[in-house]
Amino acid sequence: PPYWVVIPAAGIGSRMRADRPKQYLQLAGKTILEHTLDCFLDHPQLLGLVVCVANDDAYWPDLACSADPRVHQANGGSERADSVLCGLQKLSGLGASDSDWVLVHDAARPNLAVTDLNQLLETLADDPVGGLLAVPARDTLKRADADGRVQETVDRSVIWQAFTPQMFRLGSLREALADALASGVAVTDEASALEWAGHHPRLVEGRADNLKITRPEDLQWLEQRWKS
Ligand code: C5P
Repeated sequence: PPYWVVIPAAGIGSRMRADRPKQYLQLAGKTILEHTLDCFLDHPQLLGLVVCVANDDAYWPDLACSADPRVHQANGGSERADSVLCGLQKLSGLGASDSDWVLVHDAARPNLAVTDLNQLLETLADDPVGGLLAVPARDTLKRADADGRVQETVDRSVIWQAFTPQMFRLGSLREALADALASGVAVTDEASALEWAGHHPRLVEGRADNLKITRPEDLQWLEQRWKS
């Protein structure tokens, strides 16, 4: 199905310990953010894309893709969910309708495979709620107390890691995020806002290498992988 994209890119990425927000670090000759946008700009069903950037962001206007007519800019907010909400409001202003599909994807996730993107779109095309790319937990999982003492082993067969893109209808996502934020609940991804509204988003199994660049070694790992 045709779809819009919102890329929250207003974070600082302090765990990278770099001189600039992590989405502007170089990876194989381009910034991380440019690679992330390429995943969608090369895709035929894209209707348009909104990037949410911090007010004091000096790097975004210098990227060639910021002048692409399909690429629009929105403000960032204090939390990721605030940034996403700004992006969704921008989409409505661009003429997107509440029943349109929106994919929200982290700026710092530049290794999205087109096969995963297509799988997500095909699986959810007729879904009443929407869903997200996710990966089943691989390791044995422990629940611990504050002192780092194991309390129990968790059944990993029902545990998944939530990735992006996350795909929902514009109207229901905007309302769920606004309500969740107004109620003060923690919303670290779009699905959690939908869950809070009583829905059950579908998990679509994706590739484990669709990783979010968080620490310096993640960037080195991807650089090596793209070289070979
Ligand atoms: O920090 P973390 O990696 O969890 O951030 C996930 C995504 O959310 C990143 O793409 C980051 O730029 C974005 N973000 C945002 N606005 C914030 C915080 C994070 O757009 N206030």
